Amino acid sequence: MKSPDFQPVSAVAHPNIAFIKYWGNRDQELRLPCNSSLSMNLSGLETCTTVRFDPLLHQDHFLLSGEVVKGAALERVSRFLDHIRSLAKLNVYAHIESQSNFPTGAGIASSASAFAALAMAASHAIGLFLDEKDLSRLARKGSGSASRSIPDGFVEWQAGTGDADSYAFSIAPAEHWDLVDLICLIDSSHKVVGSTGGHALAGTSPLQSVRLSHLQQRLEKCRQAILRKDFDQFAEVVEEDSNLMHAVMRTSSPPLIYWLAETEIILWNVLAWRKEGIPACCTVDAGPNVHVLVLGDHADKLQARLSELPGVQRIFRASPGPGASLI
Ligand code: PMV
Repeated sequence: MKSPDFQPVSAVAHPNIAFIKYWGNRDQELRLPCNSSLSMNLSGLETCTTVRFDPLLHQDHFLLSGEVVKGAALERVSRFLDHIRSLAKLNVYAHIESQSNFPTGAGIASSASAFAALAMAASHAIGLFLDEKDLSRLARKGSGSASRSIPDGFVEWQAGTGDADSYAFSIAPAEHWDLVDLICLIDSSHKVVGSTGGHALAGTSPLQSVRLSHLQQRLEKCRQAILRKDFDQFAEVVEEDSNLMHAVMRTSSPPLIYWLAETEIILWNVLAWRKEGIPACCTVDAGPNVHVLVLGDHADKLQARLSELPGVQRIFRASPGPGASLI
């Protein structure tokens, strides 16, 4: 039988920032989360990935920003492609080329855009045409938060009861709300414990059950705040949820402390500026960098103030972004 003729396929996806965080898995292998989460895609920051399946290859071949990737990172990508090979019932390896226009592994969810772009490019390249829900489920298996980078704009990932119903969907399009994310980069080095390792520790914290006990209320409050564009309510719940996740991280065994002194300084200042009337709030992922969320009209003024704070090396500015797409 003649083997299928594989064409290269490219896709682009954006990272996302979670307003209600995902932390901890109930099934580590399938990346089924302990809780539902809510996020916004970040336009301006992106990962572009090209995949070409090649019947002559004996293993996957992965280039990241022009450098050959081997070891654990290649292994993770290959295991992810195994899901796609098994869905397509084709045992063929691939050339993968990927690049992002922002630092990876530093708390700007690079694995989200990476696995969302890879899911889209690789599934098309092998001849599978999955709908948005199945693409989101697939991306989830590479990195949980990648499930949220598939749909457009403001996105909810429902925890679901199993593999079939744990996927993300858009709750509002990118144009819905003029929210800006000023990502203050204070350290772009690779984090010591990545989120995959971190999720595995979540259950060791006595505070994880406390965090989860009011999760549904926070999710509902955040969803309503977004839909009604109520910034005060949004700020309150976003900061509470981020602080609860970091409380869990800090009280895990071993503890995970991602914040630096400069992280705290940004948090204090933004709180003080909000009291002065600037509609801004903070959220922090698994790294020291701070995402400062602000209403669009106030973004220039706030960016100027943030750039004066100690340790702020660079500020990335992102607006609500679209979902993943083919190029
Ligand atoms: O998708 P992962 O395994 O990189 O986990 C993401 C975890 C956080 O960024 C800390 C929270 C979130 O919901 O994005």
